[in-house]
Amino acid sequence: MKLIMLGAPGAGKGTQAKKIAAKYGIPHISTGDIFRENIKGNTQLGLKAKGYMDQGLLVPDELVLELIMDRFKAPDCKDGYVLDGFPRTIPQAKALDEALEKNNDRVEYAIDVDVADQVIINRMAGRRACLNCGRTYHVDTLKSKVEGICDYCNTELVLRDDDKPETVKKRLEVYHEQTQPLLDYYRKKGILHSVDGTGDIDKIYDEIIHILKA
Ligand code: AP5
Ligand code: MG
Repeated sequence: MKLIMLGAPGAGKGTQAKKIAAKYGIPHISTGDIFRENIKGNTQLGLKAKGYMDQGLLVPDELVLELIMDRFKAPDCKDGYVLDGFPRTIPQAKALDEALEKNNDRVEYAIDVDVADQVIINRMAGRRACLNCGRTYHVDTLKSKVEGICDYCNTELVLRDDDKPETVKKRLEVYHEQTQPLLDYYRKKGILHSVDGTGDIDKIYDEIIHILKA
C-alpha cells in the first residue's frame, strides 16, 4: 500500500503515519525526520536544509526529490510506504507520480488530516520531539511516561527549533500557498480522503483505517 499523509504543519500527520505504518508493516517515511537526522549528523544535506527549515520555508524541490528517490530504493519500500510531509508542492507530486508510473504503480490514498490554524498554533507550543527516533509527544495530550524523556529510546525530548510561534505562523502561510493545492490535485485523481484531525488520536486513527479498508 502506498499512501500520503497531507495536512498543515502540526495537524498530526506524523502521529497517525507511525500508527498506520506499524499496522501494515510498511515504512513511515517523513522527509522532515530525514532532514532533522541529517541536521543532527551535521551532513551536507542537513546544513543546506537547516537554513530553510528554521525560517519555516520549504527546502527546494531538487534537494527533497534527490533524497526521497534514493529512499524509495531501499528494500523495505517494496510493499509500500506511508509518506509524511512529502509531496509538499505540485512539482513534487508530479515527480512522484512519474516515478511510480514508470513501474506501472501509483499512490492509492491521500489522507488529509484537517485542523484549523488556531488549533495548530496552540498545539505546536506543547509539542516535544525525540530527535533520535522521530516520535512526537505533547505536554498535555500525549505525555511521555517520564517527563522529558522518549518512551522508546530514552532520549531527551526537545521543542523543535521550527516550533517557535513566529516560525509556526510562517509554516502555516507556506502550507496554504504551496501545499494546500495538493488537495485539489489528489481530489481530481479521486484518491483524496479528509478526516477531522481534532479530537481523540485513536478515533482519528480508526477513521483512517476504515478508509483504508473500504
Ligand atoms: P515536517 O517535519 O514534515 O513538519 P510539518 O509538516 O511542518 O509537520 P509536523 O511534523 O510539524 O507536524 P505533524 O503533522 O507531523 O504533526 P505531529 O503528529 O507531530 O517538516 C519540517 C520542515 O522540513 C518543513 O517546514 C520544511 O522546511 C522541511 N521539509 C520537510 N519535507 C519537505 C518537503 N517535502 N519539501 C520541502 N521541504 C520539506 O503532531 C503535532 C503535535 O500535536 C504533537 O505534539 C502531537 O502529539 C499532537 N497531536 C497529534 N494529534 C493530535 C490530536 N488529535 N489532538 C491533540 N494533539 C495531537
Ligand atoms: Mg511530522
